[in-house]
Amino acid sequence: MTLIDGKALATKMQNNLADKVQQMKDDYGIVPGLAVILVGDNPASQVYVRNKERSALKAGFKSETKRVPSSISEEDLIALIEDYNQDDTIHGILVQLPLPEHINDKKVIMAIDPHKDVDGFHPINTGHLWSGRPIMVPCTPAGIMEMLAAYNIGLEGKHAVIIGRSNIVGKPMAQLLLAKNATVTLTHSRTRNLADVAKSADVLIVAIGQGHFVTKDFVKEGAVVIDVGMNRDTDGKLIGDVAFDEVKELASYITPVPGGVGPMTITMLLEQTYQAALRSLEHV
Ligand code: GUN
Repeated sequence: MTLIDGKALATKMQNNLADKVQQMKDDYGIVPGLAVILVGDNPASQVYVRNKERSALKAGFKSETKRVPSSISEEDLIALIEDYNQDDTIHGILVQLPLPEHINDKKVIMAIDPHKDVDGFHPINTGHLWSGRPIMVPCTPAGIMEMLAAYNIGLEGKHAVIIGRSNIVGKPMAQLLLAKNATVTLTHSRTRNLADVAKSADVLIVAIGQGHFVTKDFVKEGAVVIDVGMNRDTDGKLIGDVAFDEVKELASYITPVPGGVGPMTITMLLEQTYQAALRSLEHV
């Protein structure tokens, strides 16, 4: 079994990105700028946002984090996004999800300029991805593709099974794997005989949000297992969706939690912000 070290790969890519950002400053005098909007005080979101800010600054980006109370109206939130849409020093805008109940997240995502939608959630970017022209791609699946490539894991003709059909992970993941000529099965909570379907996977991607849901009964010997889960066990310890200790005995490659997919998500966010800044040079 080979452990896929997402943290090491993320560090390497972020160091590389820091060099590219410096080069951009030297050559064009611009600094890629990322604005993150955090609504309310969800503890998990606060941690994610702090990590994003720290990594952005370390790589030499301009990083602006706007923390607003959960009582903010949808209208005021959209007005804030529109200000960032107009701001030439900001190339990427991310609204941390989930949003409070009274705010329609689809409407909020639609307000983001698609050129600055570094999460790849705007329907324009979803459409580009599904029509085979990825521009801004959701960061978690993009990070998983980078990990598979870095470990030379071929996908052509392989059976990839995804557990979880979210807009953030499962659906875009399916499209990215398909683009690499994998045969893709997208499963979800209503899938019958889920363990049997998962057991036919050469590559198993798990994003279901339930701690240790995937046991050895879901995994074929030699499968590649990617764990997107971030759950807390009863002791407050961070655990994945995969029962790592038993599954690692079967897998050929496996990602740990923490230190697997998580650090790659932030890396792709920065990479896409850098790419958006690069593209903005074409418009001036
Ligand atoms: N909440 C959990 N994951 C994500 C993500 O990738 N982007 C945003 N904006 N919010 C999230």
